[in-house]
Amino acid sequence: TLKDVEPFLTLIESRNDLAAKLKLQYPLKDIFVVRGDADQNEMVKEELARLMAEELTGNLFKNAIVSVAGGSTMALVSKFLRPKHEGLLFVPARGGLGEDVAFQANSIVSHLAEVTSGQHRVLYAPDSISKASLESLKEEPMVREIIDLNSRSSMVIHGIGDALQMARRRNVTQEVMSKLDGEKAVGEAFGFYFDADGNIVHKVKTIGLQLEDLENKESIFAVAGGDSKKEAVKAYLKFAPQNTILFIDEAVAQHLLG
Ligand code: G3H
Repeated sequence: TLKDVEPFLTLIESRNDLAAKLKLQYPLKDIFVVRGDADQNEMVKEELARLMAEELTGNLFKNAIVSVAGGSTMALVSKFLRPKHEGLLFVPARGGLGEDVAFQANSIVSHLAEVTSGQHRVLYAPDSISKASLESLKEEPMVREIIDLNSRSSMVIHGIGDALQMARRRNVTQEVMSKLDGEKAVGEAFGFYFDADGNIVHKVKTIGLQLEDLENKESIFAVAGGDSKKEAVKAYLKFAPQNTILFIDEAVAQHLLG
């Protein structure tokens, strides 16, 4: 009966309200808000990944190239993506970044390709490397191909993380930790750490997608849920390109409006 569904209708309405209010404040391509706080409930993260997979499917086309970043939220996307388009190619935006193998872009692209009967490429490049080695690695044909595909991809899918939490998870050196602390880093996305004003304060020296590449993408799907990421998302929106489609939960949404 209507009485039974009423509370749910109110909830749906309140989430749509949040997204509508956010869209007035932040000029992005689109904003989606899911119910709850991902820090409190793992299902919220799944719902974010599901929604992102659904929207991605709607935006994809035959032979599309997608750049993919790492993280635990990204790792859930393949669970919900369906084989609707032919010839998709998933490319890692980054190498390892010191993450667990399941959270590395290299693993995630292989799962996305599997569920869509598409293809993927792998980027074999160490996380931290000297500038000289990095430059010579960039000349390797296999690495060049990844750099080229990342610059040509139509879409990017990536997570946003809390800076210090990500740095700890990746076991960065004490030196990097002090730098992030000193520079007051609050957020991280594809290996770029940024402060509350959206200034990049530290870049992991690695190969892959460049910030400049983002401007010419058709869509950038950015996802983050959980109260612990609210400052990170707020800061990210200071430099997020207008072609960004943002997926957040209520915990983050409330903070962005505040
Ligand atoms: O690169 C990782 C993202 O910034 C966030 O990762 O989805 O595990 O929180 P997460």
